[in-house]
Amino acid sequence: MPDRTRIRKAVFPVAGLGTRFLPATKTVPKEMMPIVDRPLIQYAVDEAIEAGCDTLVFVTNRYKHAVADYFDKAYELEQKLEKAGKHQQLALIQKILPPHVRAVFVTQSEALGLGHAVLCAQPVVGDEPFAVMLPDDLIWNKRGPGALKQMADLAESTGASVVAVEDVPRAMTGSYGIVDAPDIAGSAEANQHGRIQSIVEKPSPDNAPSTLAVVGRYVLDPRIFSLLAQTPPGKGGEIQLTDAIAQLLAEKTVLAHRFQGTRYDCGSHLGLIEATIAFALDHATLSEGAAQAMRAALAEMGVVEH
Ligand code: G1P
Repeated sequence: MPDRTRIRKAVFPVAGLGTRFLPATKTVPKEMMPIVDRPLIQYAVDEAIEAGCDTLVFVTNRYKHAVADYFDKAYELEQKLEKAGKHQQLALIQKILPPHVRAVFVTQSEALGLGHAVLCAQPVVGDEPFAVMLPDDLIWNKRGPGALKQMADLAESTGASVVAVEDVPRAMTGSYGIVDAPDIAGSAEANQHGRIQSIVEKPSPDNAPSTLAVVGRYVLDPRIFSLLAQTPPGKGGEIQLTDAIAQLLAEKTVLAHRFQGTRYDCGSHLGLIEATIAFALDHATLSEGAAQAMRAALAEMGVVEH
C-alpha cells in the first residue's frame, strides 16, 4: 500500500439478485428498498463520503438501472419542484451526492462472486488503497464517526488493510468470513484492532477459528486485485474476496477492526425491520408517531399494556 494514504474510492458491489426479498425485488433492486425515508444504498454512500471518499464505484448489472438513475441528476424533476416552490423537496434530491463526489458504474456481467465483483472495479480504482462496502450491512454509530471513517483513519495511520468485524453466535459462522485475530479475541469492547492471522469463508461452527465475523466493510491494499485475478472459485463455486484476503495476509498486515456502532443485517427480513424501527424511533419528525404506532401494535398483540 502506498504508505499512509487516505482512501478516496469506495466500491459498492450491487449486482446481486436479491432473491431473498422477492417479490419486491422482482422490479425494485434491494439496494433501493427504503429504510424510513432513504434507500438502503444511501446509508452506505453517506458513510463512504463521511470517511473521505469522493469516487463511488458501483459494480452493477443490467437489472440495476434504478441505482444509476437514483444517483443521476433529475433535471426535469428539479425544474418542476423549483417552479412549484417546493424547496425542501428540491434540497432532498439535490443532496443525494455532494458536488465533489462522482459516481462511476462498472458492469459485472456474470455473477461469479464477491471477489469477482471487486475485481471488476480495478480499472477505476487503479493502484491505491480503497474501500469495499456491502450496503446490506447497515452500520449506524450514533455516538461518533461511522464504521468506514474509523477504518480509514486506522488504515491511514498504520498503512495496513482493515476489515470490520463483530462477534456472532458460533452457530452463525457458516454465514460469514471468520477471522483469527488473537489480540482482540478476549474482549468484546468496541474500537479495538488486532492483526489477522487467518481468515476463512463461511466455516462450519466446528471448524471456525473464532466467532469474529467479517461484516461488509473493508479497506484494502490494491495488491488484492492481482491476488483476486488468481483466486480460483471457492465456497459455493464463487470467487471469494475472503480467499484473496487470506493470500494478502502472507504479504501485508491486515487488521481486524471491532467497530463502534450497531450493524443491521439488511440482507435479511428481520434486519431490515430492526433498522426501520431504529431509524424511525430516531427520526426528527416521525419518532413520536412511530413510537405510538409501535406501542399500539404491541398492545393489540397483548405484548405490552396501553
Ligand atoms: C459476504 C462475504 C463474507 C462476509 C459477509 C458480510 O458474504 O463473502 O465473508 O462475512 O459478506 O456481510 P455474503 O453475505 O455476501 O454471502
